[in-house]
Amino acid sequence: MRPYNRKPDSSIYVNGVEIASFQAEEGGNLDQQTVDSFGEEWSAFDSFDEAEIATIGDEYFDVVSESIYGEEKVALDVGCGSGRWSLYAAKKFGFVEAVDPSKAVLTAAANAKGLNNIRISQAGVDNIPFEDESFDFVFSLGVLHHIPNTAEAMKACVKKLKSGGYFLVYLYYSLDNRGSAYKLLFKASNSIRWFISKMPATIKKILCDLIAALVYFPLVMLARLVKTVGFKSWKKLPLSYYANKSFFVIRNDALDRFGTPLEQRFSKKEINQMMRDSGLVDITFSNKTPYWHAVGKKV
Ligand SMILES: C[S@@+](CC[C@H](N)C(=O)[O-])C[C@H]1O[C@@H](n2cnc3c(N)ncnc32)[C@H](O)[C@@H]1O
Repeated sequence: MRPYNRKPDSSIYVNGVEIASFQAEEGGNLDQQTVDSFGEEWSAFDSFDEAEIATIGDEYFDVVSESIYGEEKVALDVGCGSGRWSLYAAKKFGFVEAVDPSKAVLTAAANAKGLNNIRISQAGVDNIPFEDESFDFVFSLGVLHHIPNTAEAMKACVKKLKSGGYFLVYLYYSLDNRGSAYKLLFKASNSIRWFISKMPATIKKILCDLIAALVYFPLVMLARLVKTVGFKSWKKLPLSYYANKSFFVIRNDALDRFGTPLEQRFSKKEINQMMRDSGLVDITFSNKTPYWHAVGKKV
């Protein structure tokens, strides 16, 4: 556990557990509509299968070498959502502090109940309530592309790292390693997102479930079939990433993808530059999905 660097503005109680809440400043680096939308998303997708989380976690953390982990080390999860990766990281580090500005903290606290090496706090990336240079490892998975100024948000995360500590990030890719058909498909899907993300929560969820069932599922089945037949090119098929994922994860990701008002995308080159500008070196990108995720060391 790390001490807070200021007093919380208020407290929220979940099953007798206190969550400290730190209010965002007016005009902060946060899109309130997006934060509210995630609060709804994580109260709908509030549980997860531990074995599946371990498998998907291994995919995100594949760039983190074993020597980076340690019982004596403290990690920070920025934008923890339901807390699934905080729980994954709590098996690798001595303690995990997890922050999120949305009401997802209620879900995360319920999921972390009974674990004495995770603490959830309500705060955004630009008001992280801990001293600078106080963490051994900071990670932010699928978060910074939902924030107005991603480059500044990354700098704010890296500020919390000790010198020699590591930062792991996953940002939506700009399809920079894909062909034009893929890019066209993305353009079409992005217009659909623009429309769906403006809907009330219940309609948004129904529409995203329909997309999961009628678009994702058939494409995932196709990828599974091509994989089973033995064609190596199955990974090039759209949504092949979900070939080994449950329908629950597919529904969750469809809502994430189509229900979120603010989404930005970055090329590998742009992410590399943002990481360098934040003071990271020894940057390693995974060449595997999900694209792009990378780790860097603070000088
Ligand atoms: C796609 S979810 C990812 C959650 C979690 N990292 C995961 O992969 O399960 C994005 C999360 O970013 C959070 N978020 C949005 N704006 C944020 C901000 N300004 N600072 C920190 N987190 C933010 C949302 O509340 C949401 O829980």
